[in-house]
Amino acid sequence: MRIVLLGPPGAGKGTQAALIAAQKHAAHVASGDLFRKHLGEGTELGKLAKTFMDRGELVPDDVTISMVLDRIGEADAADGYVLDGFPRTMDQAKALDEALAVKGQAIDLTPLVEVDTEELMRRLVGRWICRSCQTPYHEISAPPKVTGVCDVCGGELYQRDDDKPEVVRARFETYERQTAPLIEYYEGQGKLVRVNGQRDVEEVTASLLQAVSERSAA
Ligand code: AP5
Repeated sequence: MRIVLLGPPGAGKGTQAALIAAQKHAAHVASGDLFRKHLGEGTELGKLAKTFMDRGELVPDDVTISMVLDRIGEADAADGYVLDGFPRTMDQAKALDEALAVKGQAIDLTPLVEVDTEELMRRLVGRWICRSCQTPYHEISAPPKVTGVCDVCGGELYQRDDDKPEVVRARFETYERQTAPLIEYYEGQGKLVRVNGQRDVEEVTASLLQAVSERSAA
C-alpha cells in the first residue's frame, strides 16, 4: 500500500507513520526527517532547507520533490510506504501522482489526522526527538524512560528549533495556506479518510489500521 498521511504540524503524523509502517512492513518516508538528516550531515541541501524550516516556511518544491521521489524509488519502498509530511503543496501532490502513473501506480489512501490547534501547540512545545532515529517523545504525555535518552536506540534527545511557539504559529499558517487545499484534492480522488487524532496514540493507530484494512479489502 502507498499511503499519504495528512495533518497539521504536531498532529502525530511521525508517531503514527512509524507504527503503521512497522505493522505493514512498509517504508516510513518523512520529508522533514530527510531534511534534518541532510542538516545533520552538513550538506548544501540541509543548509538550504534550514533557512526555510527556521521560518516555518516550506522548502522549495523542486528540491523537495526530487528528494522524496528518489527516496521512494529505493528498494525498501518497493512494496509500499507511508509518506509523512509529503506532499505539502498542490504541485508536490501532482508531481507525485504523475511520477507514480508512469510506473502504473497510484496512492491508495490518504488519512487526515485531525487535532485542534490548542492541543497541537501543547504537543509541539513539549516535544523531544531522537537525534539518531528521529523517534518523537513528549515531556508529559510520552516521556522517555531515562530523561534525554531515546528508549529505542539510546540516542540523544533534543528539541527542534522550529518548535518554538513563534515558529509553530508560522507553520500553522503555512499549513492552512499551502497544505490544507490537498484535503479537497484527495477527497476528490475518493482517497481521504478523516481520523480523530485527539485520542491516545493506540486508539489513533487502531483507526488508521482499520482504514488501511478496509481499503485493502475494497
Ligand atoms: P516536518 O518535520 O514534516 O514537520 P510537521 O509536518 O510540521 O510535523 P511535525 O513533525 O511537527 O509533527 P507530526 O505530525 O509528525 O507529529 P509527531 O508525531 O512528531 O517538517 C518540518 C519542516 O520541514 C517544515 O516546516 C518545512 O520547512 C520542511 N518540510 C518538510 N516537508 C516538506 C515538504 N513536503 N515540502 C516543503 N517543505 C517541507 O507528534 C508531535 C508530538 O505530539 C510528539 O511529542 C508526540 O510524542 C506527541 N503525540 C503524538 N501523538 C499523540 C497523541 N495521540 N496524544 C498525545 N501526544 C501525542
